[in-house]
Amino acid sequence: MTKRDLSARPLGLPGDFVFGVATAAYQIEGGVAEGGRGPSIWDAFTARPGAIHHGETGEVACDHFHRWAADLDLMAELGIPAYRLSLSWSRLQPTGEGPLNPEGVRFYRELLAGCRDRGIEPFVTLYHWDLPQALQDAGGWPERRTAELFGAYAQQVADELGDLAEHWITVNEPVCASFLSYWWGMQAPGHTDLGEAVRAAHHLLLGHGLALRALRARRPQAKVGITNLVSNLAPAGDGAADAAATAQLDIRFNRMFLEPVYHGRYGHDVVEVFAPQGLTDTETDEGLVRPGDLALISAPADFAGVNHYTNTRVAADPDSWNGARMIQVEPAPTNFGWSDTPEALTAVLRRLATEFTDLPLYVTENGATFTDYVTPDGAVHDPERVHYLAGYTAALADARAAGVDVRGYFLWSFLDNFEWSWGYSQRFGIVHVDFGTQQRIPKDSALWYRDLIRANRAGPPTPEGSFS
Ligand code: FCB
Repeated sequence: MTKRDLSARPLGLPGDFVFGVATAAYQIEGGVAEGGRGPSIWDAFTARPGAIHHGETGEVACDHFHRWAADLDLMAELGIPAYRLSLSWSRLQPTGEGPLNPEGVRFYRELLAGCRDRGIEPFVTLYHWDLPQALQDAGGWPERRTAELFGAYAQQVADELGDLAEHWITVNEPVCASFLSYWWGMQAPGHTDLGEAVRAAHHLLLGHGLALRALRARRPQAKVGITNLVSNLAPAGDGAADAAATAQLDIRFNRMFLEPVYHGRYGHDVVEVFAPQGLTDTETDEGLVRPGDLALISAPADFAGVNHYTNTRVAADPDSWNGARMIQVEPAPTNFGWSDTPEALTAVLRRLATEFTDLPLYVTENGATFTDYVTPDGAVHDPERVHYLAGYTAALADARAAGVDVRGYFLWSFLDNFEWSWGYSQRFGIVHVDFGTQQRIPKDSALWYRDLIRANRAGPPTPEGSFS
């Protein structure tokens, strides 16, 4: 492997390419019992013994609920032009129905206006996993009514906040909000029922369609899309068995979620896998997939969001989950064991553009955790993250050089934060957070990202941006 160019250099991306950072409400806000917020499924799940590393919770997290202004100041000082954030549904609508909570509306109006005042463009996610607990008590995403209420909520949000942001992401990673949450039990509400998971998946996609329709109706200027997690999967060996195992995982991780949105259907082999749980390729009055659902889910969006983290080789193995064993690709695994292989991002972007959609693509999340710590000089040196980012940002240029219309990149994450079941043990931020004192220290990677953004605004474009 050739050495990676680690300089913060012009990558040959267009001048209006959007560089940003991303966060999510439950992971940073804290203030769970303040401002009229109602409980969400993450409050309930984190209270369950054994669910979260060391029993940690998002009760305080980065205390962003109180510190948002200083956090935005820091973002502006770093010259970060765009910020993808999520709205907490239970802060805005404590039980998931009825009028919006005025204090919640005020909080987010100030936050979004605060971004704009500082020249930061907000990209707003409506659902990043924190369902109001009252809706879970009524059955959660496996119930069709949850999708309908989400559509109604989106309309209220469009009315109250729609003037403050142009870009809207309806749902973040439906694969995690359904399969990880209702099948694998790893995320709230922590159920392990495949039937619930498949129904949740369809209803999250339907919720996307209903939210898209509501935003369109109330804010015709809004640019709306959904964010899917897209993993790069390839067979470990040349044999047919590994290829078949890879195809099976691709159905469960990727195609189940991409095909309905971008092709307007569930593929035959996807339906074959989930037919016992009620998935059909036809729409029926009493079934899971009702007349009109697929038209709503695949209604024209303005962009496609993609989160990308993992590059996996798949080996056939009858003893493993669904007959497939996943092998993370070397080299330089990050703390999660995920690889640092930027060509996987290029591959995923190319695949989306060739197999699924010609919409503009935005990488709405990408990043890595490492063992970051404060050294006696008061700094946080994270050369591994700089290495990672140098590779993955250059991969964007490679994708563009291959003809992919990728328009933006949001680094996960701005701050170290509450990493779901891993609690505070995984640091994804370019800004270090001391959770005891709430002190923020920009890591070396934050300064590198600042310089990269600068170079790509000011510098002359280079013809190619190869990372190798
Ligand atoms: C994604 C989530 C995000 C964060 C990263 C590491 O799946 O959308 O909230 O946890 O993983």
